[in-house]
Amino acid sequence: MLRVIAIDGPAGSGKTTTAQSVARAVGFAHLDSGALYRAVTLAGLDAGTLDSVEATLAAAEAAHVALIPGDDPFRPQASGVDVSEAVRSARVTAQVARVAAWPAVREWVNRQLRATATAHPAGVVVDGRDIGTVVFPDAPLKVFLTADPEVRARRRLAQEGRAADAGNLGQTAAQLGSRDAADARRAVAPLKPAPDAVVLDGTALGFNEQVTEILRLVRKMFPQLDIGPTQD
Ligand code: CDP
Repeated sequence: MLRVIAIDGPAGSGKTTTAQSVARAVGFAHLDSGALYRAVTLAGLDAGTLDSVEATLAAAEAAHVALIPGDDPFRPQASGVDVSEAVRSARVTAQVARVAAWPAVREWVNRQLRATATAHPAGVVVDGRDIGTVVFPDAPLKVFLTADPEVRARRRLAQEGRAADAGNLGQTAAQLGSRDAADARRAVAPLKPAPDAVVLDGTALGFNEQVTEILRLVRKMFPQLDIGPTQD
């Protein structure tokens, strides 16, 4: 059986941190597909090629953009350097949805994700927008995480260490909203739950409850895994 857990959802739904915790508990590796889209965008920005898909992919290839196994999560790398921090910069965030809408970029990213996942001896938790719908439609467990826009904006500000005052909240919610709209409206692999995904609304759930709920599903779908007791 394919050992893949797909966690999809909009920006700020907490899918990356959730995926990381689930992966740790289960003994799987964690692949953050968004980090790969961001690393391709960074390579394109640095090479000044973002007006051309071919040139941006060539820049990503030249920089050997990839997710590299580290101590814990796979980390995005470009030109031999860990770009985990750089890919979260505002200039990358502002451009990434445009780059991710290019079909050739999506195929390039999907090839990397599938190759990395199949090569992994234990299994992987992959988070993104289209993991359950396009990249791993056969994943035994698919979770779609949602949360109210204001809750997501608050989480994103906390993650960035910024104050959740009215100005920041409004601006961040608007930025998340426009990226979600671009991701949901695009022709290829739009943001939406797979028909067989479990939709979890994290608005009222704490982070631990969210992880516990997913681990409960993991135990059901992968009974052969010894993941220890979850706090029910
Ligand atoms: O962390 P955050 O929710 O801000 O976003 P991310 O997971 O780092 O993804 C950044 C962007 O990459 C998204 O807004 C999408 O445009 C794109 N993306 C995608 O199209 N498909 C994926 N599987 C993952 C990310």
